[in-house]
Amino acid sequence: MNLDTKVVIITGAGSGIGAATAKLFATHNANVIVSDINLESAQKVVDEIIAEGGNASAIKTDVTQFEEVETLIKKTVEHHDRLDVMVNNAGIGGKNQLRTADHTHEDWHNVIAVNQTGVFYCMKLALQRMVKQGNGNIINVASLAGLKASGNNLSYSASKFAVVGMTKSAALEYGRKNIRINAVCPGFTNSALLDQLLSVSSDMGDKLKRFIPMGRFGEATEIAEAICWLASENSKFITGQTITLDGGTSL
Ligand SMILES: NC(=O)c1ccc[n+]([C@@H]2O[C@H](COP(=O)([O-])OP(=O)(O)OC[C@H]3O[C@@H](n4cnc5c(N)ncnc54)[C@H](O)[C@@H]3O)[C@@H](O)[C@H]2O)c1
Repeated sequence: MNLDTKVVIITGAGSGIGAATAKLFATHNANVIVSDINLESAQKVVDEIIAEGGNASAIKTDVTQFEEVETLIKKTVEHHDRLDVMVNNAGIGGKNQLRTADHTHEDWHNVIAVNQTGVFYCMKLALQRMVKQGNGNIINVASLAGLKASGNNLSYSASKFAVVGMTKSAALEYGRKNIRINAVCPGFTNSALLDQLLSVSSDMGDKLKRFIPMGRFGEATEIAEAICWLASENSKFITGQTITLDGGTSL
């Protein structure tokens, strides 16, 4: 897998899947822009990458703010002269696990703003740059919840189905522009986001594992492997696809 000197932006890379992806790209000698709403956590990831001999820099970006995404891409291109790979990973869950009739306005607006509108902003602006330079690769982090129904989770489900739809629709438009766009759909994966779900009750972990044929949660590094593969030439005839990494849950 050759990712040597590729210029890669990863949103939400201060933690979990995004951080693991940033570190894996760096081990392949990519130039990694570690972007997160939380600059402190992004800088920590950068420090770890640099300590291991990799190339990385941190940029604070709230993906719900169009101007901040504009700045992220502008600074990256000013510094590196191009943008090879955009990994749209930033995402949040709702605060409450409630049925649709009780789904809160707050959860709806917050989750859609980050998971759906944020991906739209990042795709729109990355694509403008990639069309200009004549190539590019976008990987969106959707979810198993973007392929299958999931209860008590309406805004998250809506946002992740939207990410899958945006991935496919944009891939259709940009195939002839030498730009590939794919998504990964993780199942339950160890991270701060999963911890939030597990905190609902003490037996939540065991309950969830009953739905996973492989009997365990995924690791962020396992999702990162698929993202890096999609960003590499090893997957060069794949576009508009979703890769499900869920230990068999979707079965
Ligand atoms: N962990 C899972 O089980 C799981 C399963 C399926 C999909 N996903 C998806 O994976 C992605 C990463 O989640 P994770 O599990 O690593 O969670 P995480 O909470 O560990 O990481 C999410 C990161 O996004 C950042 N973030 C939040 N709001 C932001 C904003 N407005 N702008 C920029 N950054 C922001 C956070 O600061 C955090 O660093 C999300 O899109 C999530 O929906 C996770």
